[in-house]
Amino acid sequence: MGHSVPSCPQDGYRIADAGWSDLASVASLEADVFPEPASLTLWRNHWSQRNTHLLVVRRAEQVAAFFGFEIHGPVAHVLGNATRPQDRQRGLATMLLRVGASRARNAGAQWFLGEVRASNHVQRKLLQGLGWRVIGRCPHFFGNGEDADIVWFLLP
Ligand SMILES: CC(C)(COP(=O)(O)OP(=O)(O)OC[C@H]1O[C@@H](n2cnc3c(N)ncnc32)[C@H](O)[C@@H]1OP(=O)(O)O)[C@@H](O)C(=O)NCCC(=O)NCCS
Repeated sequence: MGHSVPSCPQDGYRIADAGWSDLASVASLEADVFPEPASLTLWRNHWSQRNTHLLVVRRAEQVAAFFGFEIHGPVAHVLGNATRPQDRQRGLATMLLRVGASRARNAGAQWFLGEVRASNHVQRKLLQGLGWRVIGRCPHFFGNGEDADIVWFLLP
């Protein structure tokens, strides 16, 4: 971590690398919107790894959205992304995924790989709009038995 990211002021929103003090907000947002959220401890472990990139969008010092991924050779594996309900459909996830793609490319990755719940139509629509492809389905991937769509994006 520690590379600079462009700040993208839009209605007071600013994108930045997550700091240690953002992690509680990231974990709390996860807990609000995911059926099986990653814990604060897990986010702290991820954040401490040199191959992890965690971008946040802040507004008035609050985390409104985040996007995290970890790089393993050519693969940038998605850890998660979410936008607070009150900040949705303003392009924040799109902005994070675009900046994240540029970041991943600069860090040497060639593609993104992620897993999306089969029921998560909104995330699939978001990703497909940005050129991601569903390359397969992994049965019973999630803890509650739900299938995952495996999503892939070739970095430009
Ligand atoms: C999925 C999620 C991250 C989208 O965040 P967002 O900041 O609202 O996304 P954006 O504003 O950038 O939307 C981009 C596109 O996604 C699609 N989209 C977003 N919200 C949508 C909705 N409620 N219904 C249908 N399509 C939607 C649209 O195609 C949209 O483009 P458009 O505005 O030009 O129509 C957000 O809904 C969320 O946090 N959901 C819960 C957590 C989650 O599912 N994370 C992904 C786990 S794999």
